[in-house]
Amino acid sequence: MKICVIGTGYVGLVGAAIFSDWGNTIVGVDIDSEKIERIKKGEMPIYEPGLSEIVLKNISEGRLSFTTSLSEGMRDAEIVFVCVGTPQSETGDADLTAVWKVAEEIGRNLETYKVIVLKSTVPVGTNEKVKKLIKDNLRFNTEFDVVSNPEFLREGYSVEDMKNPDRTVIGSDSPKALSIMKSLYAHLGKPIVEADFKSAEMIKYASNAFLASKISFINEMAQICERSGADVSVVAKGMGLDSRVGPKFLNAGIGYGGSCFPKDVAALYKTSTDQAYDFKLLRGVMEVNELQKNYFVSKIVRYFGGNLSGKTFGVLGLAFKENTDDIRESVAIEVVRILRGLGAYLKVFDPQAMYNSKKVLGEVDIKYCLDKYEAIEDTDALIILTEWKEFGTIDLERVKNSLKSHVIFDGRNILDRKKVEEARFTYFAIGKRTNGTELLSKRPTGTPGVILKNGD
Ligand code: UGA
Repeated sequence: MKICVIGTGYVGLVGAAIFSDWGNTIVGVDIDSEKIERIKKGEMPIYEPGLSEIVLKNISEGRLSFTTSLSEGMRDAEIVFVCVGTPQSETGDADLTAVWKVAEEIGRNLETYKVIVLKSTVPVGTNEKVKKLIKDNLRFNTEFDVVSNPEFLREGYSVEDMKNPDRTVIGSDSPKALSIMKSLYAHLGKPIVEADFKSAEMIKYASNAFLASKISFINEMAQICERSGADVSVVAKGMGLDSRVGPKFLNAGIGYGGSCFPKDVAALYKTSTDQAYDFKLLRGVMEVNELQKNYFVSKIVRYFGGNLSGKTFGVLGLAFKENTDDIRESVAIEVVRILRGLGAYLKVFDPQAMYNSKKVLGEVDIKYCLDKYEAIEDTDALIILTEWKEFGTIDLERVKNSLKSHVIFDGRNILDRKKVEEARFTYFAIGKRTNGTELLSKRPTGTPGVILKNGD
C-alpha cells in the first residue's frame, strides 16, 4: 500500500517506520526541514530503542522516504495518516491548531480518492469537523473518507507496541474506508474494534484516563498503607493477580507525567464539563497526582529539619519515566525545581534525558553528572525520581561510601527495601512504613519555614 504519514513525532515517525517494515511504501512529511534531514541520516529526533535501525533499513530498501512538502507526500498515497501534535491549551482542552491546518491543506491537495486517518489524540467530534474542513477546501470534486484510528503506543516501547498492539480501533462511517484500513492491519491477527467516529475518539481518552486513574488510585492506597503499616507493593501484587484488575499501572510513585496522561485527563475532564457534566472521579485523579510529589518532597524537608539550604542531593532520574529522553510534564523535573527552590544544590543524572533537562532547568545550583555514582558523590542524600532499571541495581556499598549521611528517598519504590535497610540506610519509599518513615513519625510534624500543600 502507498501511505503518507504527516508528522514525525513519536506516533508519526514510529508509524512510518513500522508501516514500511510491513512492506508498504511510505512518505513521511514534516514541516521541520532540519528534522527531516536528520531522520534521513538515521539520527532520530527522539530516543526510542530499535527505531533508527528500522528507519535506516527501510530507507535503504526504498520503502521509506521523507519530505517537507505535504502535496508531494500525499500525491500517490491511498491512505494519509495525520499524526500531528495536539498539546494542551490554556483552557485545559486539546489545542487542535495543527490538525485544522493539515486538514485544510489536505483538502486543497486532494486529487484522487484517499482515506484520511486521524491518529493524533483528538477530542470527541473532531473527525466530523475534519471531514467538513477537508470538504470545504476541495478544489476538485474528489471523493474521500475520514477514519479515526487512535494510537496506543507507549514511549520507550513504541516499536514493539506498534508491531504488536493489543487492539486496533477503527472509527469510520464508510464500508470502503473500513475495508482499506482492515487490510492494513489484518496481518497482525489482533482484535479490530469497529466504531463510529465519536466512540473511537472516546476510546483513546477513556483508556489513558483509566490508566491514570489506576495510578492515582494506587498512590492514594500508598498513603493509607504507609499510615497503617501495610506495604503498597505487596498490596498491588495481591490486587494485580486478580485478572479483573491486572498487574500493570499499579506502581505507586511520585505521580504520572509525560506528554499524554496529564493533557488527556484534563482534556477529557474539559469534554465532560462541555457536555454539562462534572466528571468527579477525574477531578480526584488530577488532584491526587498534583499532591503526590509534594508529599514526597515534604518527607525530605522534614527529615532535614525544615531547611534544605546548604544541602546537596544526588538525584537519579529526570525523564518522565524510564526508557525515554522525554521530560515533558516530568514529575522528576518538577521535584528538582521544588528542591532547588527550597535552597538545595542538586547533582543530577539520567541515562537519556540530560540534554533535554539542561535546556529547561539551566545550570544554576545543578551539576549534570556523567553517571549515577558521580551524582551521589559527597551528597547529603540519594533521591530517586525515575524508574530506570539501572537505578534499582545500584551498588549499595558504593552509595554508602559516597553519601555524607546514609539516607535514601526512593520516589519509585525501585530499590529492595530489605537490602537497603540491612545495609543500614535510612530509607524512605512510597506507601510503606520503612525505617525512615518510622523515624519521622517520632518527630514533631510541621516543616518550619516551608509550606507544602498536603505536605504532612
Ligand atoms: C501513555 C499510554 O500508556 C499509551 O498507551 C498512550 O498511547 C500514550 O500515553 C499516548 O497517549 O500517546 P506514555 O505517555 O508513553 O504512554 O507513558 P506511560 O508508560 O503510560 O507512563 C505515564 C506515566 O505514568 C509516567 O510518568 C510513569 O512514570 C507513570 N506510571 C506508570 C506510574 O507512576 N505508575 C505506573 O504503574 C505506571
